[in-house]
Amino acid sequence: MSKNLNNLFPDQENIPSSVTLPEYMEQREYLLDGKMVTWQGDMSPVASPVFVRQGNELKQQIIGSTPLLTSKEALEALDAAVRAYDQGHGVWPLLTVANRIEHVEKFLVMMREKRQEVVNLLMWEIGKSQKDSEKEFDRTCDYILDTINSLKELDRKSSGFVHEQGIMAQIRRVPLGVALCMGPYNYPLNETFSTLFPALIMGNTVVFKPAKYGVLLIRPLLEAFQECFPAGVINIIYGRGRETVGSLMETGRVDVFAFIGTNKGANELKKLHPKPHRLKSILGLDAKNPAIILPDADLNNAVSECVLGSLSFNGQRCTALKILFVHKSIVDEFTKRLCDEIAKLKPGMPWDAGVGLTPLPEPGKTDYLTKLVEDAKQHGAQIMNAGGGESLHTFFYPAVLYPVNSKMKVYYEEQFGPVVPIVPFEREEEAIEYVLNSNFGQQLSLFGKDSMSIARMIDAFSSQVGRINLNTQCQRGPDNFPFNGRKDSAEGTLSVADALRVFSIRTLVATKSTDDNKKIISSIIQNRESVFLSTDYIF
Ligand code: G3H
Repeated sequence: MSKNLNNLFPDQENIPSSVTLPEYMEQREYLLDGKMVTWQGDMSPVASPVFVRQGNELKQQIIGSTPLLTSKEALEALDAAVRAYDQGHGVWPLLTVANRIEHVEKFLVMMREKRQEVVNLLMWEIGKSQKDSEKEFDRTCDYILDTINSLKELDRKSSGFVHEQGIMAQIRRVPLGVALCMGPYNYPLNETFSTLFPALIMGNTVVFKPAKYGVLLIRPLLEAFQECFPAGVINIIYGRGRETVGSLMETGRVDVFAFIGTNKGANELKKLHPKPHRLKSILGLDAKNPAIILPDADLNNAVSECVLGSLSFNGQRCTALKILFVHKSIVDEFTKRLCDEIAKLKPGMPWDAGVGLTPLPEPGKTDYLTKLVEDAKQHGAQIMNAGGGESLHTFFYPAVLYPVNSKMKVYYEEQFGPVVPIVPFEREEEAIEYVLNSNFGQQLSLFGKDSMSIARMIDAFSSQVGRINLNTQCQRGPDNFPFNGRKDSAEGTLSVADALRVFSIRTLVATKSTDDNKKIISSIIQNRESVFLSTDYIF
């Protein structure tokens, strides 16, 4: 193997003690109605993408197991959440905003104490580099803090009265009910918590099912969830999605469905809900974000942004650049420089200093990527970089494919991995057509200098995607920016402030501004007779 992948996986003694996990994490606990319940049934093994050399063999590390709950336990969790919400009369939805914030602040303190454990599990469970795992943890803490501040701001704005056409009203945001929150394996902490915490802090009660991979890393936080929230407000379940989550949707008692995953998965689950108008969905789904590199682009910048965009976390980001349209006049030079830069990425284990490429957590992923590359080759593409497409167990060395055309699967499918397809184009319309005809519409990146061409393309794409990135890769952050998508890429908009809105609805108390009505309102406020109607101001 030209990349000598045989030396990629470590011997046991080469793994730093700071990242070594406890022996075997058998997690039998799950959080139900404020109690930590010990599961006695079947367990699901957690296989790390990391293999370790033992003699002449490479052995996949089985680092623990998690409960394979059934629909029975999932329904018990839903019952607990429904009881805790109590049609909006439960302790949690009726708590003042300031009080709910205190609970979340306490959680944040406890969460920060678990940083090392969670970061280590991120590395072992999903193969994310130490630097990116730490970034994911810290970004999540910042997100929670920003959410608190944003809610304070929102609440301050709602603490007064609006006077219009002789009518006075207080308009406040109230929770929607019971939320089901599910996140993806590539950001099992950040993306999950970026819906879970807005849902909780707005007063909803929650059933939370961790992602497919990156499950054990929630374990160190279970006690904090138990201690910081009233019974039933947050219930954490484990098991196969279809069996557990499917049965929850069938009850019709889920009010909000927050899901980051595939549009196929979301479609199947949404269809099970018998009351489609009761269900509000917030979905982050598939994407096939293109980069379009125009003839006058600054190649150094375009290449470095495209390497980052295509291969950060091995291309396993929903916002990753998944296809590159490069103008024919520069495609040879671009491809050469891209391959040179990719050659500098260091393959290794998540904890290795400066690592740029790591093993993939999804079983069967390297086979899928190999087939994708083979299909492209059959239709005329070549692998342009040395060692491209070589694989060993869970590791796949990035393959740069050129020239890619519409006969190839990689032209349409979201590879969600280290395959970089390059499509040469002559006329801008070719790239525009691709975006217009795509089933997805999350983001795209434009690289160029000529303001006229860029303006033309911005106008062509502003009705197609949620974000146009100019001379920079696609990304979700900063988290205060809106994050959404068109077509099969998303439903609803997330950002720190938007998330508070999507997990709540405005309710108002309105009355004609007569003296009698004002007297009633004054009495309610001065004597603190209502939770909803209040002019309390959070400083
Ligand atoms: O996987 C999708 C994430 O939301 C991407 O976030 O652009 O910050 O990596 P990111």
